[in-house]
Amino acid sequence: MEKVLEVKNLRTYYFTYEGVLKAVDNISYSIGQGQTLGIIGESGCGKSAASNSILRIVPPPGRIVGGQILLYDPKRPKEPPVDLVKMDPKGKEIREIRGSRISMIFQEPMTSLSPLHTVGNQIMEAILLHQTKDKKEAEELAYEMLVKVGIGNPRQRLLEYPHQLSGGIRQRVMIAMALSCHPSLLIADEPTTALDVTVQAQVLELMKNLQQELGMSIQYITHDLGVIADVANHVAVMYLGRIVEMGTREQIFKNPLHPYTDRLMKSIPSLKQKRDGGRLESINGTVPIPINLPASCGFCSRCPVKLCGLCEKAYPKLVDRGEGHYVSCFLYGEEAEEPVETDAGNKHKKERR
Ligand SMILES: Nc1ncnc2c1ncn2[C@@H]1O[C@H](COP(=O)(O)OP(=O)(O)OP(=O)(O)O)[C@@H](O)[C@H]1O
Ligand SMILES: [Mg+2]
Repeated sequence: MEKVLEVKNLRTYYFTYEGVLKAVDNISYSIGQGQTLGIIGESGCGKSAASNSILRIVPPPGRIVGGQILLYDPKRPKEPPVDLVKMDPKGKEIREIRGSRISMIFQEPMTSLSPLHTVGNQIMEAILLHQTKDKKEAEELAYEMLVKVGIGNPRQRLLEYPHQLSGGIRQRVMIAMALSCHPSLLIADEPTTALDVTVQAQVLELMKNLQQELGMSIQYITHDLGVIADVANHVAVMYLGRIVEMGTREQIFKNPLHPYTDRLMKSIPSLKQKRDGGRLESINGTVPIPINLPASCGFCSRCPVKLCGLCEKAYPKLVDRGEGHYVSCFLYGEEAEEPVETDAGNKHKKERR
């Protein structure tokens, strides 16, 4: 299958006064055309930092300190990919990619919708920037997009301001805006967390239908495992800035290998569990802050099955344990990750001055 995105050894650090916070620490994954990769993990594990790195919108004091983010163009399969890490985050190249080849939708629609402009003007702005210079045509495309995302009375909605709309409609408007230029990759960061469950189900259904129709790839971030089970083909489990397990949805949900994934799965309520009267399991302890941590498995202080001695001494390497089911855990082999040099140290000193 053709790849749309390939992330290689990405590291994104925040240079805080307490020290270097490794929000994303050496992650690698790829997304195929028309596929959905779900990224899950507890709050603070680096899901948003990883996604923001792709669009190059990591705010200071954060910065990408290593790795590559390769974007392929499905319309030009013979052309080599572009490396988004090499681009100037404020430059023309990345601005042309944002909103046209990659779009992002966030948890809170008001973060990407302006309260000062009508819905129509905002969708048209993206279309006029990337697709056509003709205002009438842009208006028609904006109208068609609202129809596509199932908004009733679309002509009237185009003239309204975001505050006049309900949460569910605002989310649909944001999706319409994100998809108006037919991106090949959509990054959705907790897009339905703020919605009630019925509206959430409608929005998820809508995204799946539009994905089929437009053939785009999706990177879907959430800590809601139920949503991931519904939308994702592949799943990456993050912990402390690293991917600790990755595989197909079936591999991750039916046969979790990493003790962290296993605990996450046991924390989902199921109908069967209710019948048996069983209790839900929780994960002991909390996620440490990723500053000045030793080079050890990040989960080892909370792990119920750790191998004393090995887990505290090195990072386990993320290894394919069969049929593309990757896990980074010494329970399955002793391969450790080689330490990597980054440019973090020197530049850190300069930035703090
Ligand atoms: N602007 C910032 N300055 C300093 N540290 C930050 C900043 N933004 C995020 N971090 C830290 O980076 C790490 C990763 O944060 P991130 O927001 O990517 O987590 P997340 O997995 O998206 O969490 P959530 O599920 O709560 O959205 C956390 O330790 C967080 O405290
Ligand atoms: Mg987040």
